[in-house]
Amino acid sequence: MCGIVGCILKEKKDAAPVLFECIQNLEYRGYDSIGLATYDNRINVKKGKGDIKKVNREQNFKNMSGSYGIAHTRWASTGKPTPENAHPHLDDTNTVAVVHNGTLENHSEIRDELIKEGHEFISTTDTEVIPHMIKKFMDEGLNLEDAVRKCGEKIEGSYAIVAMSKDEPGKLVATRKDSPLIVAFGKEGYFVASDTPAVLDYARDVIRPKEGEIAILTKEGIEIHDENGKEIKKVPQHIDWSPEMAKKEGFDHFMIKEITEQSAAVKNTLGQRANIEKIIKSIGDVKRICFVACGTSYHASITGKYLIESLAGIACDVVIASEFKYTAKTWDEDTLVIFISQSGETFDSRMALKEARKTSKTLAIVNVAGSAMTEEAEYFIQTQAGPEIGVAATKTYLAQLTAIYLFAALMAKDEKLIRELYKVPKYIDEVVNERESIKEISKRYDFAKNAFYLGRGFSYPIALEGALKLKEITYIHAEGYAAGELKHGPLALIDEKVPVIVVIPPGDDYSKTMVNLEEVKARGAIILSVCAKGDKKTAENSKEVIEINAEVGDIIAPLVYAVPLQLISYYVTCDKGYNPDKPRNLAKVITV
Ligand code: M6R
Repeated sequence: MCGIVGCILKEKKDAAPVLFECIQNLEYRGYDSIGLATYDNRINVKKGKGDIKKVNREQNFKNMSGSYGIAHTRWASTGKPTPENAHPHLDDTNTVAVVHNGTLENHSEIRDELIKEGHEFISTTDTEVIPHMIKKFMDEGLNLEDAVRKCGEKIEGSYAIVAMSKDEPGKLVATRKDSPLIVAFGKEGYFVASDTPAVLDYARDVIRPKEGEIAILTKEGIEIHDENGKEIKKVPQHIDWSPEMAKKEGFDHFMIKEITEQSAAVKNTLGQRANIEKIIKSIGDVKRICFVACGTSYHASITGKYLIESLAGIACDVVIASEFKYTAKTWDEDTLVIFISQSGETFDSRMALKEARKTSKTLAIVNVAGSAMTEEAEYFIQTQAGPEIGVAATKTYLAQLTAIYLFAALMAKDEKLIRELYKVPKYIDEVVNERESIKEISKRYDFAKNAFYLGRGFSYPIALEGALKLKEITYIHAEGYAAGELKHGPLALIDEKVPVIVVIPPGDDYSKTMVNLEEVKARGAIILSVCAKGDKKTAENSKEVIEINAEVGDIIAPLVYAVPLQLISYYVTCDKGYNPDKPRNLAKVITV
């Protein structure tokens, strides 16, 4: 959802190479267009449509002069991805330059007023009103800080903004509402960015300004001011993610690197046991639980419902975050609402969290330390997956599941399940080590136009997640279905051109899933099953199988059986020549 960066170097060196590196690290937030502005007695701007490498080849960002500046990578929301709509945006006298992440709801009204006053616009973005307004307020006598503050009062919607003005050289001013923003202190200079991976090479002591606060960066340091312009002293949080963690390290893509990191993500998240025990104790008794999330995190939540209901016997709902407000009415102080989010910044989830706090206890399970939801929820658990750059969630999904399993098992005092969880990293590595054979299998499925994923009970959310992974990066239409539901309609779509991926681990539901597998077999489907090693019956009834360690039963299956499905999606995407890290129309963090 757009990435923004600003940097001021302490020495008189060019900032463009640093800005370029930082903004490149945020490409996962959008890659429709990119732009940089630096200051060297005047504001220099270079921008263009396309991803960073392409635009850099055309424009050579790194030769821009000036020791400070701003940069932006765009995920188009208001206005098409065109060169004119690329950020930074300027006012019509080239005095103020701005980068923005978010969406403004009242930009049309503001634009109309400014046009009446004689301002000229060149883009169709919502953002362009911001530099015009800042310039106008500065012309009326405000300094840059106050002009940015006043602009924040006028605009409605979500925003993280960094502004610079040639009338106040040597300064960057940033603020936010409902969009993420960090400032960071480094050896060489001071930074502002949408997210920490942007700056890890340069700075790891980070502050997250609260809504409405203003951050002022100069080469002397960073000040945070409240809404009245009074300085607030804050202690930076040290981020222990290393810069290498956010790099590809020899892998072709982040996605495959992150898939191989999953056993570590699970192991490290299991280390949260003591913390989770403490949280369960402070939450106390609850009569009802509700999970709220989007996308992959929603699939992890469905597993959570099955676990909590079956282990702890507590009634549990699962709600898609954007639907939450239509269902929230009956919850009370005995309800615990659990929010699952990789980024901790997803707009739909944050709005639901705001709503849930009015009546209920809230817990957020998130991966990004210090993200908005860690501050907004009453309790939070941090999953230990490290930074995830690939747009498709992989290691953070398994880390979320691990936290949910621990939470449910500790609530139910199920030590047997906890002992099982400690074996999961080994099972995951066994699958990951077989990735070359999964790559071969994947080559036989890249022809598909449609695919179905089937699973029952704990395997149902695995099927949903497998289908989501396939559609988001391969662009093949895929549906995840509860295996028993297929006969109620979608079976009509099955023929000999449709691959059906059946998730069939050993356990109570095995025979029922086998019946469903036979139903699709009878309609000629191409069946690829993920089953236990040595499961002859499944092998006989399928075109081919991917085998998982037979010790993995249906209850812990989501933590292991999801992995071959991620690998299939990854390899089919590579086969089709697409970039799995940057699927079209998507971004890693959905802050609108
Ligand atoms: O950061 P969150 O977990 O809140 O994000 C939710 C979804 O946007 C996310 O899981 C999305 O579905 C992924 N791209 C799936 O791979």
